[in-house]
Amino acid sequence: MTALDEGQAHALDEADPLSGYRDRFLLPTADDGTPKVYLAGQSLGAQPATARAAVEAELDAWARLGVDGWFARERAWIEADDALRESAARLVGARPAEVATLNTLTVNLHLLLATFFRPSGGRTAILIDAPTFPSDRYAVESQLGLHGLDPERDLIVVRPREGEALLRPEDLEGAIHEHRDRLAVALLAGVNYATGQVLDIARLTAAVHDAGAVALWDLAHAAGNVPLALHDAGVDGAAWCTYKYLNAGPGAIAQLFVHERHAADASTMRLSGWWGNDPATRFRMAETFEPAAGADGWRISTPPILSLAPIRASLAIFDEVGIDALRAKSVRLTGYLEGLLDALVPDAEIVTPRDPAARGAQLSVRVAEAPRTLAALERADVVVDFREPDIIRLAPVPLYNTFHDAWRAASVLAESGRGPA
Ligand SMILES: Cc1ncc(COP(=O)(O)O)c(C=O)c1O
Repeated sequence: MTALDEGQAHALDEADPLSGYRDRFLLPTADDGTPKVYLAGQSLGAQPATARAAVEAELDAWARLGVDGWFARERAWIEADDALRESAARLVGARPAEVATLNTLTVNLHLLLATFFRPSGGRTAILIDAPTFPSDRYAVESQLGLHGLDPERDLIVVRPREGEALLRPEDLEGAIHEHRDRLAVALLAGVNYATGQVLDIARLTAAVHDAGAVALWDLAHAAGNVPLALHDAGVDGAAWCTYKYLNAGPGAIAQLFVHERHAADASTMRLSGWWGNDPATRFRMAETFEPAAGADGWRISTPPILSLAPIRASLAIFDEVGIDALRAKSVRLTGYLEGLLDALVPDAEIVTPRDPAARGAQLSVRVAEAPRTLAALERADVVVDFREPDIIRLAPVPLYNTFHDAWRAASVLAESGRGPA
């Protein structure tokens, strides 16, 4: 048995202490009813098998109790987002009061920018890293516009060097330092959506603070993927969706982090709504807004109860496994896929960092003939994700992907490089 053959993949699965978790998910199936090789969890995570019952329990409560569902039962809707706090805080390395579950990701980026982007004097610029997920850029540009600023002047985009795919951390630090007199906010990606590159959140947050600016993080591809320590890193604010590695379902409600030093400060501005009011006085219907303690003060509206249910089901699994055990498997699994691609598909260029510490559960692979490769993967029931013009993203997710999944994907890529179109 060699390191490249199928038997080795099966042997690795047999030795994997987390292999049983695959059965806790419903994976898309092929025509013959067997699970597809689902490597698209960085786009939409697989469905926890308990998600349906969790949603049905809320539908039943609605049918049985109507409006009384808000208060009159063991897990009343009024506490539905509260119930996620501890689990979410564990995943991102926050104090429980520093996280809230609300809205969707881009909306939460806007809420953070509304609070933290308060241009004054010469400090009017926002710095972002590239490749930037378009929504983040649109959000930042519109926030600049809201303040009458011009993105041509006040948006600083730090890009990989010519001919390079990855950002050099020293270039980011250099740009932060260079613009220290005019920088108001940096909005950076914890894990880059296109390349899978992990940025050092503590180091860059410190650099942003040294420049006298605020550090915000988009953790869409980081939450549930890599261990995080937002509180200790001193991050000002962060936001992430729950439909990727957190497996909460398409368009599921998102989460947000605000460091306690800001939430405790009564002068911190937040776009307000009644759900962000202190729960103790919310239903007095008073004219004056009294922010809830912690990140809850950023909530605005009544939470979508049906959307919250699958997250509860999913985070229960994360609580059981723990992010450190997941990360340990993730490093092995992604490394295994990398080794297979290097050996079997030497023409495919892996743009994701080679250093396991600088990436999560994702390999972005640049392929020469993307349409042909994608067609071959589809025929073989391997689900991946494609980003124009030529990047295939493969995410071996440690909760539900196997070493054999990685082997099948690499084999198809190897075959598609050889055969006719
Ligand atoms: C890095 C990143 N930022 C922002 C978004 C936008 O998220 P939403 O549509 O939930 O606002 C995504 C979506 O995939 C993303 O990957």
